[in-house]
Amino acid sequence: MTAPAAQNEIIDLNKEYTLFSWAVQGAVNPIPAVRAEGVYFWDADGKRYLDFNSQLMNVNIGHGNRTVIEAIKQQAESLSYMYPGIATDPRGRLGEKLAEITPGLLKKTFFCLSGTEANESAFKLARQYTGRQKILGRFRAFHGQGFASQQAGGDPRRIPNEPGVPWVVNFHDPYRYRCLFCRDLDKCNLMCANHIEQVVQFEGPETIAAIVLEGYSGSSGIIAPPDPEYWTIVRRICDKYGILLIVDEVMSGFGRTGKWFGIDNYPGINPDIMTMAKGLTSGYVPLGATIVSEEIGKYFDTHAMMVGGTYSSHTLACAAALACIQVYEEEGLIDRAATMGPVLERGLRDLQAEHPSIGEVRGTGLFYVMELVKNRGTREPMSEFNKPLTEPMKKLSAFLASKGMFAFVRWNMVFAVPPLIITEEQLQEGLSILNDALSITDQAME
Ligand SMILES: Cc1ncc(COP(=O)(O)O)c(C=O)c1O
Repeated sequence: MTAPAAQNEIIDLNKEYTLFSWAVQGAVNPIPAVRAEGVYFWDADGKRYLDFNSQLMNVNIGHGNRTVIEAIKQQAESLSYMYPGIATDPRGRLGEKLAEITPGLLKKTFFCLSGTEANESAFKLARQYTGRQKILGRFRAFHGQGFASQQAGGDPRRIPNEPGVPWVVNFHDPYRYRCLFCRDLDKCNLMCANHIEQVVQFEGPETIAAIVLEGYSGSSGIIAPPDPEYWTIVRRICDKYGILLIVDEVMSGFGRTGKWFGIDNYPGINPDIMTMAKGLTSGYVPLGATIVSEEIGKYFDTHAMMVGGTYSSHTLACAAALACIQVYEEEGLIDRAATMGPVLERGLRDLQAEHPSIGEVRGTGLFYVMELVKNRGTREPMSEFNKPLTEPMKKLSAFLASKGMFAFVRWNMVFAVPPLIITEEQLQEGLSILNDALSITDQAME
């Protein structure tokens, strides 16, 4: 066996020969990780990090889970990969399991490799099924880095690659804290949902294949509608105009919100298509999935489905997902997220009482974010939307890393999205580091 690489060697090779996502390459300062277990990972010098973001909000079951590792090993011994037109046992059983745990009449799944591909596939299926072209989605959402998915989630990472596809239209968000429609009112007036109908009418309902929404908003800032009626209105608009509802559960799926899926927080809302990735395998192996209703599935019994790929229904990945779902069930992780959520929320609200730079705390389950502001009255963000981090946010981020905490800091937001296996003590460990870090932004208030 070769000797483990040293800290600097790992960093140097990575920076010299690989490219890092969404980054100015000269500015990246990566942690050289070598090992992970539970809610922690370690660098080559043995420094331990508390993973307070489940890596990219995907390692829901935590690191180094033996059930999943053994399932991957066993599957690799017998059958790693088969041509996508060949049937395999893990593929069939995973399809059946997803039909069981997803809401409503969702039944048949197309497997791919990522959340992006799952959404790109969903759009293609919706367009083929309806014979219509357009997809509508929110501005503050992320549905992936493909040309259609980047457009459908209005997230500004799309801008350097525009113009994108011409058949995507965005609408406004149910963003109570900074809402265009109701920020100054006593309560949400649901214009965030009702204006969508006007967008539909202006765009021509007969041209719209689907509306896509995250089941529970994620990296844009966990911006969930304050009134659950939002979803009823969206579903009603879809039904009225024959538009499909695509629910993106890539980030909010698999227990993150204390339910199997984010949309399960809104009982009775049945998606026509749902997309998954991340927590489906908890990142042990890449896998994405697009599940469609029985009715859409039937349509493709007699029409060719024009979606595919070499690694579709990858046998090893399907086996890993089955094992991962077994872990959620056997270890009761969905309920665990629901029970630990209030502990995390209480901790964050205590921080808010202590630190004036926390403008708002939002979330549910083990899916929370803090919005940091320069001034609670004006709500001016500590760092602006889609601009490089300001000095205080940079300092806060560096402080967290120096104290051995891995957290996701974006613009003026600090996310708290730990693995679902986290204990109360480990949560307190994270909250205590956040408590120290927040004095940096408190001092930067105006
Ligand atoms: C809601 C949502 N959809 C889609 C994606 C894209 O998934 P992937 O990075 O696996 O392509 C993400 C990624 O963060 C996401 O949060």
